[in-house]
Amino acid sequence: MTLATLDVMPSLCCRALGKTYPGGKQPALVDVNLDIAPNEFVTLVGASGCGKSTLLRCMAGLERHDQGELRVCGQPIAGPGPDRAMVFQHYSLYPWLTVIENIRFVRRLSAHTRDRSSSDVEAASGRADALLRLMGLDAVRDAYPNQLSGGMQQRVAIARALMSAPPILLMDEPFGALDAQTREVMHDLIAHVHRQERSTIVFVTHDVEEALYLGHRVVLMAPRPGRIDTIYPVPLPARRNQDMKLAPEFLALKREILERIRDTSGMKTDLELLEKLSQAAA
Ligand SMILES: Nc1ncnc2c1ncn2[C@@H]1O[C@H](COP(=O)(O)OP(=O)(O)OP(=O)(O)O)[C@@H](O)[C@H]1O
Ligand SMILES: [Mg+2]
Repeated sequence: MTLATLDVMPSLCCRALGKTYPGGKQPALVDVNLDIAPNEFVTLVGASGCGKSTLLRCMAGLERHDQGELRVCGQPIAGPGPDRAMVFQHYSLYPWLTVIENIRFVRRLSAHTRDRSSSDVEAASGRADALLRLMGLDAVRDAYPNQLSGGMQQRVAIARALMSAPPILLMDEPFGALDAQTREVMHDLIAHVHRQERSTIVFVTHDVEEALYLGHRVVLMAPRPGRIDTIYPVPLPARRNQDMKLAPEFLALKREILERIRDTSGMKTDLELLEKLSQAAA
């Protein structure tokens, strides 16, 4: 899918987007052009500092761009909104609420803003319970965040973001703190949520395999200044399974993207320096 062939109103639309932080020597983002279709799953990868989080935070309305245009469903983004939920790189829970209270928190907020029938309340409570079970958090339902491991806290944060069934889900390295086993389960869970709820997902990761397994397109960004380097359509059926990670086209694309990240990062393993380090230690 390219800018030219997208014939529906994009969920998110970036046109010549740019941002420089106050005092920043290089722009964090320059000339970002990206249309994300409704129900598309786009993953962002790239070397550290290439602007992935900045782009996501601009989409969330948490950061203001200073050049170009950024629209959500055709409307300029003026700030955060209920149409977009964000899961941060570092989990952020309310420490004074239990697991289930944290998950239901969004609903509690919306209860103040509109009238709700008892069936609304029941449906919300059913969704919270289902998310709790899907995330494997049943046993810690009434625990407080400081009693949980980092991975568990992140799963609560994901459940909370999914609670309001947001049309657009923005996720910044949401599975970075999870072990490999839980990560695989979360991949299939998020793919299921994406299919069922037809949400649009923008997902930042350092893990190229994760980016390819989840994404319809992988957007590779490059640093100094932060920009889009290449957009790779993923040549896999929409419905993925773990075996596809071993398919030759999957492995070939993974290698290509990894090489490109290495080339654009400006960081290389310096064997000579490593040798000096071990000589100095001897
Ligand atoms: N609040 C801020 N104030 C000033 N500069 C910032 C701020 N946040 C990010 N930057 C700078 O903007 C650039 C892009 O940062 P950003 O966090 O978006 O990168 P990233 O791709 O998410 O990196 P990582 O993979 O390490 O999370 C970096 O040069 C960073 O130093
Ligand atoms: Mg980041």
